[in-house]
Amino acid sequence: MKAAVYYETGPPDVFRYEDVPDPGCFPGGVLIEVEAISIEGGDTLNRAGGAMAGSPHIVGYQCAGTIREVGEGVKDRHSGQRVVATMMHGSHAELAAVPAVVTWPIPDGADVVACACVPVAFGTAHDCLFEFGRLQAGETVLVQAGAGGVGVAAIQLAKRAGATVLATASSDERLARLHELGLDQGINYAQPNWVAAVRAVTDAKGVDLVVDSVGGSVLQRSLQCLAYRGRCITVGNAGRDPQPLDVSGLAMGNCSLTGVFLGAEIATDRARAMIAGLIDDVAGGELRVLVDRTYPLAEAAAAHAYLESRQAVGRVVLVP
Ligand SMILES: NC(=O)c1ccc[n+]([C@@H]2O[C@H](COP(=O)([O-])OP(=O)(O)OC[C@H]3O[C@@H](n4cnc5c(N)ncnc54)[C@H](OP(=O)(O)O)[C@@H]3O)[C@@H](O)[C@H]2O)c1
Repeated sequence: MKAAVYYETGPPDVFRYEDVPDPGCFPGGVLIEVEAISIEGGDTLNRAGGAMAGSPHIVGYQCAGTIREVGEGVKDRHSGQRVVATMMHGSHAELAAVPAVVTWPIPDGADVVACACVPVAFGTAHDCLFEFGRLQAGETVLVQAGAGGVGVAAIQLAKRAGATVLATASSDERLARLHELGLDQGINYAQPNWVAAVRAVTDAKGVDLVVDSVGGSVLQRSLQCLAYRGRCITVGNAGRDPQPLDVSGLAMGNCSLTGVFLGAEIATDRARAMIAGLIDDVAGGELRVLVDRTYPLAEAAAAHAYLESRQAVGRVVLVP
């Protein structure tokens, strides 16, 4: 098969588009002919400096396509079935072999590209808001990096749950794109005084919940945005900023900071059902996937560079 591989981590131009051996189907798994690859924020971080399973390494957490082969013991999947799949690595290829338990059927008639973008971003946003963030109707939530994959999902899910939704992005133009998703108030965090802006739009109270996928100095300031008894979720490091965190301010406000990692939950019955529901909601048009650009798999380097340029609103997709 063809795959976008690399022999060392680094900037996007480490990608090579090469022939590599086909992956084999294994007991409990399925082999998928890949039709759409959603580039996850974590894929860019892994390519820049993450662990490599081998050399060459095929990066990528998520793709969708059609099952070519079903492994021994798999009863609930069949050849020819369209699925979206998650994996530790290996999405940037023409074929992917994954455990069947981390695949979800794509509803008849649903857009395979849109469904390719759902499990990690929407599932993560859902867990941040509800399972771990305990968001209630009537509360106020701040979604950091609202124009990213997790952000676009979190804005819609929070609004649907009856929350007032604030989100940050690095420009007013990016924020303007988010109102159609249900954003109530955009905060441009390229401005130095953005914490004061969050305070101002919450009548100085602060927000009940922050979903922070940026980390570093942004996470530090997320804590400053919390209301009394506010909760902050740390779920990512998109800012690539190693600034250590000072949590000394949390106690006075009876505030909390919780880490979330979907990967530790994704194969549970709870998370599988939650993600299946989100796929149905996207297929039914109740939730929207924003696909900013699509590239051929052979142009993975350009696609990663574009995503890292912070111009994309929503997802960048590769097509083998
Ligand atoms: N723990 C988990 O289970 C889990 C699951 C999914 C994702 N994540 C993590 O969450 C983070 C976001 O994932 P995603 O899929 O939403 O990513 P994404 O689609 O690439 O979006 C990332 C956003 O971060 C913002 N950003 C801030 N500083 C940036 C920088 N230096 N370089 C690039 N972007 C920057 C950008 O928006 P602005 O330009 O508007 O700031 C961008 O839209 C990643 O760190 C990912 O690893 C964790």
